[in-house]
Order: sequence, then C-alpha cells, then structure tokens
Amino acid sequence: MPEPARRPLISGNWKMNINHLETIQVVQKLAYRLTPADTGAADVSIHPPFTSLRSAQTVIDSDELPISLGAQNCHWEASGAFTGEISPVMLAKLNVRYVIVGHSERRQMMGEDDVMVSRKAGAVFANGMVPIVCVGETLDEREAGTTAAVVSGQVAASLDGLSPAQVGAMVLAYEPIWAIGTGRNATPEDAQEVAGIIRALIGERWGAPAAATVRLQYGGSVRPDNAAELLAAPDVDGALVGGASLDPDGLAAIVAAISQ
Ligand code: 13P
Repeated sequence: MPEPARRPLISGNWKMNINHLETIQVVQKLAYRLTPADTGAADVSIHPPFTSLRSAQTVIDSDELPISLGAQNCHWEASGAFTGEISPVMLAKLNVRYVIVGHSERRQMMGEDDVMVSRKAGAVFANGMVPIVCVGETLDEREAGTTAAVVSGQVAASLDGLSPAQVGAMVLAYEPIWAIGTGRNATPEDAQEVAGIIRALIGERWGAPAAATVRLQYGGSVRPDNAAELLAAPDVDGALVGGASLDPDGLAAIVAAISQ
C-alpha cells in the first residue's frame, strides 16, 4: 500500500512536567503501550523539558523505540551570548526530530512574536529537524468573529521566508487558546474549519504541493474520549496533546484512535 500523503502525527507536549528520572519510566511505558498497529498508523513524538531530553534520547535510541524525540522550543542562533537559551544545534545533537515553535504559552507569557517564530522555524530546518509551528486565536478573538483573520495572519507571518518544500515538510498546530488546558475542546467542525482555512492559505502562498503534504495538528484538550472525532476531520492530520500526554496510557489511547 502506498504511504498516505500525510502520515498522522500525535505529539505529546509535556510542558514543564516530568523530571529526567521520571522520563525514563514514562517513555518505556508509552513504548510498551503502543501496538505495532498504532505505530504503523501514526508517527508519535514526545516533547519533554530540556533537562529530560538526554534521558529520553538514551532510552529511545538504546531500545530502538518507535517514538520520535521532540523539543518544546529553541533559539534561532547556533551559539552565542543568549543566557538561558538552547540552540537548535544542541537539539539536533540529541537526535531531536521535531521542535515546537511559537506555542501560545510562549507567545503570551514570554513575548514571542511571529518574527521570532519564523526565525526559529528556519533555524530548526537548517539543522535538519522539523518545526511544529503553533497558531491559534483567543476567546475574545473568536467571539469577535476574527478567528480566520488572526490565524491566517499568524500563519503568513510565522512561515515567512520558508520555501515551498519546507512548508510542505513541516507541521502546523492549530491550538485555539480558549481550548488549552481548559477541558473545553473545539468541536470537530471548528477544528476542520480552521484547518481548511490554513491549508487553503498555504496553497495560495506556497503552492498546491505544499498544501497537499503539510501536516496540520489540532491541539487543545485532546483526550482519549474525544480524539477519534477530532482526528476524523479531513484536514486534521494529528494532535498536539498537553495534559493527557503526561499519562502514557492516555497518549497511547489517543494514538489508538487512529489505528482502530
Ligand atoms: P492541553 O491538551 O492540556 O489542553 O494542552 C494543549 C497544548 O497546549 C499542547 O501544546
């Protein structure tokens, strides 16, 4: 059977949770829970805190686990006087494959803007990794009817400078801010509507081939009980999971929503 154009990607964003010792157990348990059908149907990535990356890498590489390693952020420069920052070169050395860029928590709490996000996305690609660029509207913006304009503006500016081939190879996560950590997920119709808008915009700006292969995740209160309906939306190619990914059983159950 030919590979589907867009292989689903389920990513666990651990945020500021799980220390490096706990990481070993969580990764091993997740690998144990994932069936061959699960890993045949979807790519799975985990995004631990920086201090846990080396532990996760060691377990994944030594046991050849079917899990990709991801990071939650990086700087755009390779090295230099940037106290407290982590370079994409350092992440690539740890066999990191995916890097979340422009998460709404960083945009809102750390002042990241679209220009920084586009620099980071370019730096991730320059180091052989794949960016997961996050976009999404606030509750006020949704209620004001500006979701499409806000998200389109974020996509256009955050991907500025990327080539059509890069956009076609990347991942975009639509994460409505009002759905993150609130228990209130978007409906599958909401997720599909915005994913469709993003894919159409990518087609206009970067061409039809990029639009056909870019992977669009939905994120915001994805759980085992709502994953199947959200992931069934035709333009939704995976999920970026926060809280539910801290429990390996929960993340595996979300992956199983694709394989079953
Ligand atoms: P929750 O799944 O906890 O709502 O978090 C979503 C998220 O921000 C993933 O990046």
